[in-house]
Amino acid sequence: MHSPLLIAQLTDPHLGTGPAFLGGRIDTERAFQRAVTHVAALQPRPDLVLLTGDMTEHGRPDEYARVAAALAPLDMPIYAVPGNHDDSHTACTALPAYMPVAQDAPAGRCCYHIQLKGLHCVALDTSVSGHAHGVLDTPQLAWLANTLQACSGLPVLLFMHHPPLPSGIEAMDACSLLVGSEQLAALIRQHARVQGILCGHLHRAVQMQFAGVPVHVAPSVAHQIALDLQPGASLHAQLEPPQISLHRWTPLYGLCTHLSYVEPYGPAIAF
Ligand SMILES: [Fe+2]
Repeated sequence: MHSPLLIAQLTDPHLGTGPAFLGGRIDTERAFQRAVTHVAALQPRPDLVLLTGDMTEHGRPDEYARVAAALAPLDMPIYAVPGNHDDSHTACTALPAYMPVAQDAPAGRCCYHIQLKGLHCVALDTSVSGHAHGVLDTPQLAWLANTLQACSGLPVLLFMHHPPLPSGIEAMDACSLLVGSEQLAALIRQHARVQGILCGHLHRAVQMQFAGVPVHVAPSVAHQIALDLQPGASLHAQLEPPQISLHRWTPLYGLCTHLSYVEPYGPAIAF
């Protein structure tokens, strides 16, 4: 029997936004460094860190160098997928240890499969160069079908940038369509032991259910999108206390997800 697997999920740091971003009110690099410091101090220590995309604002090599530098204090395994603000090829080239593209991955797709403490984690690349929406194309879906088949009967966790369903925040949903989501749902239904899907992109914590499995969208470690469910509401950012997602997985109970504030609110108070 494996001990619990603890996964720290960090998403959407957007390194490279520059000092004028959001009126100069958020330093994304500093926010990412704080989140990393928070993860480094967690007890128990996470077994694994997953980055669910938009590591950078522009997908430039110098921005990935800053991502790598910011992650240097962490000594646990780190794995990442690209988001719509990333450049998949540049990211894989700059961060090969964090994005170990499978030998049988379709050309141009940063997808891979790792296994830790009995949980099979499958990274999917939903990025489309130059576009905000996501795509799981036929070659990647075929790769996923083969990968799930190879994991038949074993617990699998998927992680990717784009959530597979709309959130009701219309302005985000307009740039969040995941082409191929119906085919993804069919594959998940065929594979009974998918434990969940971890995503980013929405810049706030959202829970969904897709093809019978939980979807967790993690909040950004930097800036959030305002929670506005009114039809036609415009897109606006909101500065909120930054959080990471902390997933505790056990073979018996599956995934249990917590949100962990990066900044403390004073010492713990005994009852
Ligand atoms: Fe983002």
